[in-house]
Amino acid sequence: MKRLWGRHKQSVPNLSPALLPLSFVHKLNRQNWAQMQALPGVYGQVDLDRFLLSFQDELYEGSLPVAEAFFRQLVVQTVQRVVDRGAIRVVVELGCGAGINLINIAANCAIRAVGCELSPAAVSLIGEIASDTGLPIEAVRRNYMKDSISDLAKGEDWGLMTVHSIEQTPEIDVSWIERILDEELPPKVGIHMEPLHVPGGQFAAECKRYAEINDYNREFMATIRSAEAKGLIEVVALDPRIIGSQAHNPTTLLVWRPRERSTENSIAW
Ligand SMILES: C[S@@+](CC[C@H](N)C(=O)[O-])C[C@H]1O[C@@H](n2cnc3c(N)ncnc32)[C@H](O)[C@@H]1O
Repeated sequence: MKRLWGRHKQSVPNLSPALLPLSFVHKLNRQNWAQMQALPGVYGQVDLDRFLLSFQDELYEGSLPVAEAFFRQLVVQTVQRVVDRGAIRVVVELGCGAGINLINIAANCAIRAVGCELSPAAVSLIGEIASDTGLPIEAVRRNYMKDSISDLAKGEDWGLMTVHSIEQTPEIDVSWIERILDEELPPKVGIHMEPLHVPGGQFAAECKRYAEINDYNREFMATIRSAEAKGLIEVVALDPRIIGSQAHNPTTLLVWRPRERSTENSIAW
């Protein structure tokens, strides 16, 4: 990935510091999609302009690249909404992958964006993009299931965010939320954009079945509810199945704030 980044930098030397890494991520996406198209036995016939998508509980065929752009815009809009309320100076994304959300947030929301990630290749790529562009992004190699996180905010008010990362961890119980809230500087807000399994009609049931087949997390919504019942957090927004660029793995937006901070200097939604 670092080699590809080096080549990309040279091929478009006049792009702005924000567009340079975003256009790189776009190229990576195109490569992934081309690989899917090259493996019809695994993915079926993939037509990027007639891809199965979902918006709320409606299924339809549309452009995968456009849906992907909408989805990334949703991430930025959500973080901006928290920033507008003066609530955070740093967002810490758990499971940041190659850093597309960090880049988008740093470029659009004028805050620092820090990622933690298991993949050393992704962490080092993000480091290189940061030093080449000057964007306020960084990533560290950590396992957010067991390592501490709050030090990444370096003493500033911060928001915890996950974007399709918790989906990959089949089991997360309430002790995970307890541990994060017990850290020295707990987050002021938690933002999850994940395929959370909020009960609904037939489409919601199909999404749950998709998660079962792929062994994706199916219990995080129950974990959140149990953290609420224990008085640890308060859910301030829950918007089920907003968009699915993989139709049956749609993104639900869930925002919470720690209970004990909910009256003093806390985010309004
Ligand atoms: C589907 S990718 C999503 C990446 C990114 N959030 C995005 O929206 O493009 C999930 C990422 O979470 C990372 N991840 C999963 N479990 C993790 C853990 N326990 N600690 C750190 N990273 C983790 C994976 O390595 C992977 O890069």
